[in-house]
Amino acid sequence: MSSPEAVMRLAPVIPVLVIEDVAHAVPIAQALVAGGLPALEVTLRTPCALDVIRAMKQVPGAVVGAGTVLNPRELDAALEAGAEFIVSPGLTPALGKAAVEAGVPFLPGTANAGDIMLGLDLGLTHFKFFPAEASGGIPALKAIAGPFGMAKFCPTGGITLATAPDWLAVGPVLCVGGSWIVPKGEPDVSQIEANARAAAALK
Ligand code: 3PG
Repeated sequence: MSSPEAVMRLAPVIPVLVIEDVAHAVPIAQALVAGGLPALEVTLRTPCALDVIRAMKQVPGAVVGAGTVLNPRELDAALEAGAEFIVSPGLTPALGKAAVEAGVPFLPGTANAGDIMLGLDLGLTHFKFFPAEASGGIPALKAIAGPFGMAKFCPTGGITLATAPDWLAVGPVLCVGGSWIVPKGEPDVSQIEANARAAAALK
């Protein structure tokens, strides 16, 4: 993927994945891609996450990124595993600089004007808005985005199939993120594909 914008325009929803067993990686990725959600955010919250990235990359059509990337060391590990985009819950100068130097599409979490200004200083214009609902929801995003006409957002955190359309209707929102597509536990691939299909039909 060449840019964060390209990743964000693949589908209206980026599923946020917390995968506990690498054996689940391929069937979940296949179900998501079949349902119309090719951009997959594998969070680095489980011991097998890097192996999950490697496995999901074998699935045709999948564009696999790493989420919950907290520092340059984790960025390097994610890139080494083949991550094609990077998502973080927040923005630090160290991580931002490393991601820009690596040239990888990077969506850092922002929840206030200062975060966005730090990103702009680094040359970043595309952001996760996190935690979206807890930070004040759509009114908060509209107010924060107001001064930053160049900034685009992927709100994530507390968003559901029911609330996603309202978020997607906000001008600077290109897509949303959410974990509702793939519930915790033993994967039910037909349910995951149905969830993905419903999410892919939004907007
Ligand atoms: C994230 O890491 O982006 C969030 O944990 C996802 O939030 P959700 O579980 O409320 O969708």
